[in-house]
Amino acid sequence: MQRMSRRADFPTIVQSGTEIRQQVRLFQQRGDRVGMVPTMGSLHDGHLSLVDAARAECDVVMTSVFVNPTQFAPHEDYQRYPRDLERDVELLAERGCDYVFAPSVDEMYPSGYETSIDVGSVAKPFEGEQRPTHFAGVATVVLKLLNLVPADAVYFGQKDYQQTLVVERMIADLNVPIDVVVCPTVREADGLAMSSRNAYLSDADRHRATALYASLQQTKQLVTQGERRTAELRRAMRQHLSQTGIEIDYIAMVAAGTVDEVDTVDGPTVALIAAQVGQTRLIDNIQIG
Ligand code: PAJ
Repeated sequence: MQRMSRRADFPTIVQSGTEIRQQVRLFQQRGDRVGMVPTMGSLHDGHLSLVDAARAECDVVMTSVFVNPTQFAPHEDYQRYPRDLERDVELLAERGCDYVFAPSVDEMYPSGYETSIDVGSVAKPFEGEQRPTHFAGVATVVLKLLNLVPADAVYFGQKDYQQTLVVERMIADLNVPIDVVVCPTVREADGLAMSSRNAYLSDADRHRATALYASLQQTKQLVTQGERRTAELRRAMRQHLSQTGIEIDYIAMVAAGTVDEVDTVDGPTVALIAAQVGQTRLIDNIQIG
């Protein structure tokens, strides 16, 4: 009997850093291009779009699933961050991922571990100001992951705009031999940027959260209509969000590819927002101008 649906091959799950590095080297010796997608799991279509991009450009695709403790502050959601490796592996199988690297905390941070990477000025404002230890944790774990999975290309999402700049800075400054690919933000039908943290939202907050993207889109539209003054654009965003019960952490307009705020939209500009929706902190951004 013919099978109605084809079940994709399951990826190989590897927990040991030494083992996954050996695998990468073997593929590369064969001439294969290896793509790597770092994640903290609880995968959604945003993560999976990175896997698709890697699949399209590479011979072998590896995804890491590791909830990295060092990028969470003590009061943040490390303990309750959603974890479901079995489901993640099933989703990765459907997208044709070949290897899942799922190390333990001890594998990544053996006792005595002390080194941490300070990326400098790009890590200081916005997320860095709100979460002072966050980007050191991100930069350090990304470099560690890339040392264990020394791929040819690594994939990140535009959703975490400042994170892409921090990682690109670290990779350039520390001469990491890898191509960085940044992929567009994947959104729910109503525009909310997909995020593992959306799972925390109550129904009412989930509804409220749509105002974030709407306010960004309004900004883009105002720019199209000729408003170039970012003070005015920020004011309009605050106004848009004022009735929603959303608490704004920051709104900023920066020159694309930097964290430098601009007074007028003269070239490619990115509008950034971080806000507290109920108990959940969400971030989003779009390019304007
Ligand atoms: P995580 O939040 O799991 O995200 C993993 C990758 O998926 C990041 O590059 C992120 O930008 C991307 N991503 C998340 N939501 C997306 C969306 N809606 N559309 C497109 N891409 C999206 O970011 C991290 O994990 C961690 O900081 C990590 C880099 C893995 C280091 O621990």
